[in-house]
Amino acid sequence: MKIVAVLLAAGKGKRFGEKKQFIKLKGEPLFQYSLNTLNRLDVIDEIILVLPEEDLERINPPSFTPLKKVAGGEERQDSVYNALQYIDNADIVIIHDTARPFATEKMFLQSIENVKKGWDGSITAYKAKDTIKVVENDNVKETLDREKLYIVQTPQAFDFKKLKEAHEKAKKEGFFGTDDASLMEKAGYKITVNPGSILNFKITTKEDLILANCLVHKR
Ligand code: CTP
Ligand code: MG
Repeated sequence: MKIVAVLLAAGKGKRFGEKKQFIKLKGEPLFQYSLNTLNRLDVIDEIILVLPEEDLERINPPSFTPLKKVAGGEERQDSVYNALQYIDNADIVIIHDTARPFATEKMFLQSIENVKKGWDGSITAYKAKDTIKVVENDNVKETLDREKLYIVQTPQAFDFKKLKEAHEKAKKEGFFGTDDASLMEKAGYKITVNPGSILNFKITTKEDLILANCLVHKR
């Protein structure tokens, strides 16, 4: 069984103010955290690191697991699409945002395990802890049933062929989703969840970096 990991590091970091994948966290570039975690997992056969076109040549990170560098696209979905073109004959693909440096080995393994069990995909997620409401123009419209609400993260593992098909379909239809599972859901595939954590947060703004620094210096 061939398992390939796609590590996304081709964003522009508009909300952060700079390309956050390259900022240093305790001396190491942010994207290297996820790379290190993947390197500790024997089940991963190959890593595809997706980088901004202009950084492709200068970034050569250390990695035990065979690593291929691929140029990203305009949107996250384009970056994943590009990466998928460089994978042949994989059984499972696991996709991860390098903007989440604290994803655990267990999250990767459990996500992969669910696909091995027969699910088309498995996404890392946890039950919402706060009440979530729909607000339009400062007007509270509705309170959603928290029991059914999950905060969705990466890693997300998928059956490779089905994921590629879902991506081709989305491209044809001009559909953009904020994660890969949404493309799979739209194509009618069965997706499940594996346990996520509030500690697996995404570094999106400078505020998130404060939290990340607290965590790495406590560990
Ligand atoms: N990403 C990518 N290619 C893109 C856009 C995003 O590989 N064209 C990656 C980012 O590097 C990040 C992950 O997808 O690891 C999640 O995206 P996000 O947090 O939105 O990062 P950015 O797109 O860089 O940030 P922003 O949306 O604020 O510009
Ligand atoms: Mg983005």
